[in-house]
Amino acid sequence: MAEIIDITENRQQAIDAACKVLGDGLPIAIPTETVYGLAADATNPAAIAHIYETKGRPQFNPLICHMADLEMAETYADFDPLSRALAEAFWPGPLTIVVPLKAESGIHALATAGLDTVGIRVPKGFAGELIRAFGHPLAAPSANTSGKISATSAAHVQADLGEKIKLILDAGASDVGVESTIVKVEDGKLRLLRPGGLPADEIERVAGVKLVRPKVASAAIEAPGMMASHYAPGAAVRLDAREVRDGEALISFGPSPIANADKARVVLNLSETGDLAEAATNLFDYMKRADASGAATIAFSAIPDEGLGEAINDRLRRAAAPRE
Ligand code: TXA
Ligand code: MG
Repeated sequence: MAEIIDITENRQQAIDAACKVLGDGLPIAIPTETVYGLAADATNPAAIAHIYETKGRPQFNPLICHMADLEMAETYADFDPLSRALAEAFWPGPLTIVVPLKAESGIHALATAGLDTVGIRVPKGFAGELIRAFGHPLAAPSANTSGKISATSAAHVQADLGEKIKLILDAGASDVGVESTIVKVEDGKLRLLRPGGLPADEIERVAGVKLVRPKVASAAIEAPGMMASHYAPGAAVRLDAREVRDGEALISFGPSPIANADKARVVLNLSETGDLAEAATNLFDYMKRADASGAATIAFSAIPDEGLGEAINDRLRRAAAPRE
């Protein structure tokens, strides 16, 4: 099992222990405001290789590189005016911006899957402090086995990857609960590569332009990690359920009743009041709990496709997609 250090009680001890393991070229699990990340030195190819190995992740997926601030990010990549404006408005926070890498930036090609661009994010709070102390960017996908549900607590990470890593830093449940929104400025257009923890309309308000959403068919090429089946629980997933069928678990949303809810193995409401931010925070934990009930299928009631609902519905469609 991995050692777990509570960062609220032992902040400096956590930073020291983390810098030691990272410096040895090994990955550790870190809390971010979106989900827990499996972090390693983005300039060290052996360390990045350990991330792929630990997650069982296909090597062609580029990883998000986490920086302490925009100034640090600008030493590795070039920011056009719109990307810089978004960084200034939303960093630290749940926004990843894909920008061209500088030549000889030091970020290893294993982290970017050989692309000439890099996805950069400045996380809020402790993770940013850790990066500043460590002095190198951290490549960090979500801290879960590839294709499975992302981890939003130290206990999730321990259960999934505890045998494979040395250290988990614990900051309690992740605030946002879904991964960052990913955008890229290209040919004068602002493209949404992945909906996530920063709602699209907030980005559009600052950018002054509409986000261009990918056609489903091109999404795989634009954001190579966005494979159809992802975030998958053990159980099958049924979306837009209006009733519970025999043996199902129910994950509902809002105050509207769902028929036959009393028949469900377990009933979990993402947000009784219909608050999408609360629903995002609860999403992955409730999927794990519904899965643990032993239900063959998890039925989800419909979730509005606005604000954070876009990211929630994206994750649910992937969870429901045919498995490889
Ligand atoms: O919230 C998050 O973003 C979490 C936490 C830990 O920060 N991280 C995360 O990282 O979700 P990761 O590595 O799982 O996300 C990688 C995805 C890729 O699958 C791809 O879709 C996109 O980011 N990406 C990264 N670099 C890219 C690039 N250069 N061009 C296009 N897409 C890129
Ligand atoms: Mg992931």
